[in-house]
Amino acid sequence: MEIYEQQHTAEQTARALVQRSHRGPKDLTLTTDQRRPTPGPGEYLIRVGAAGVNFADVMQTHGTYGGGPQAPYVAGFEAAGEIVGVGPDIDSPLRLGTHVVGAGPGAFAQYMTMLAAGVLPVPSGWSDAEALGLVLNWATALAALKPLGEIEAGDTVLVHAAAGGVGQAAVRLARHYGARVIATASSAKHDTVKALGADAVLDSARSDLTEEITRLTGGVDLVLESVGQATFDVSLAVTKPFTGRVVVFGAASGDASLSTHDLVFTHQVQVKGLHIGALATAAPSIYRSLLVEIEALIAQGVYPPGTPQVHPLAEGPAVLQQLEAGQTRGKHALDPWR
Ligand SMILES: NC(=O)c1ccc[n+]([C@@H]2O[C@H](COP(=O)([O-])OP(=O)(O)OC[C@H]3O[C@@H](n4cnc5c(N)ncnc54)[C@H](OP(=O)(O)O)[C@@H]3O)[C@@H](O)[C@H]2O)c1
Repeated sequence: MEIYEQQHTAEQTARALVQRSHRGPKDLTLTTDQRRPTPGPGEYLIRVGAAGVNFADVMQTHGTYGGGPQAPYVAGFEAAGEIVGVGPDIDSPLRLGTHVVGAGPGAFAQYMTMLAAGVLPVPSGWSDAEALGLVLNWATALAALKPLGEIEAGDTVLVHAAAGGVGQAAVRLARHYGARVIATASSAKHDTVKALGADAVLDSARSDLTEEITRLTGGVDLVLESVGQATFDVSLAVTKPFTGRVVVFGAASGDASLSTHDLVFTHQVQVKGLHIGALATAAPSIYRSLLVEIEALIAQGVYPPGTPQVHPLAEGPAVLQQLEAGQTRGKHALDPWR
């Protein structure tokens, strides 16, 4: 009886990374006795196989992510794993044992819940880790390029932070849609971006970025702006007046501003804001069209299985600090069972 109770208790607890303050990733701590969540109405309980690390996780640890969780909270929000429990009120639920990818609170843990309406099956033959990025990095890059960016073959597209999680997806996609891609990244990461097919890769730190991009392009049709303060002025200055689009979906280096006066007298460009979660809620038909397109891109081999660098859960705080310092390339993931 005593042994049974011990096992039962152990099954109800889980390893997790808990953020205990808003002082950044250094206050992210590993706990082994986090209560396993219970799926509520419309939710699945997921046994997490791999959790995706995103720049938004860094922002959440500082309390600067709009609508983000308040400390203390179990960190992480993107994962892939196995459905091991089904909450009430789900029409035609997927079967127990199905592997899905999606988002929900507390992904840096062995178990989490996800809204059933938001999950997608892990593509056939792919591991959980390989499926990470599908609803975050790829959906965001695709939304920025297509429905918002209105990309057309022959366009010139500027992608900032091109070696990053979203940036790599954006470079691949923009090339696939027939665009000429000008990319920026830290100089140590240029080989990664060149290998993805970018036409030119520029050091994001150079002081004459505006002049160099203008010299190379004569003006760009579309900018994918996710760096903010450090690049926003460059993005506005190199965009073609009137026809050019700047899609803003992040501000990794800090916030930047643009006034009505600027738009009227200096930068007559189209500026569009993007948050993929808000898009899924506010414009579900556009979001569904992204998922249909991603399915086709997978079938065509344009979107290959992801190759994230997978770290043990305990390394999460260090990985987030490296992401915050701009020291990572591509996608990183955490394995809560290691
Ligand atoms: N709106 C949405 O729905 C949505 C969804 C996903 C991601 N995002 C945003 O998209 C961006 C990329 O996200 P990600 O998760 O794929 O991250 P990431 O691109 O892998 O990492 C961020 C990169 O930004 C660059 N960077 C430039 N200035 C920086 C600074 N001061 N501090 C830190 N990094 C700096 C660095 O690349 P270099 O070293 O090459 O400069 C760094 O590696 C982030 O801004 C994120 O918030 C938005």
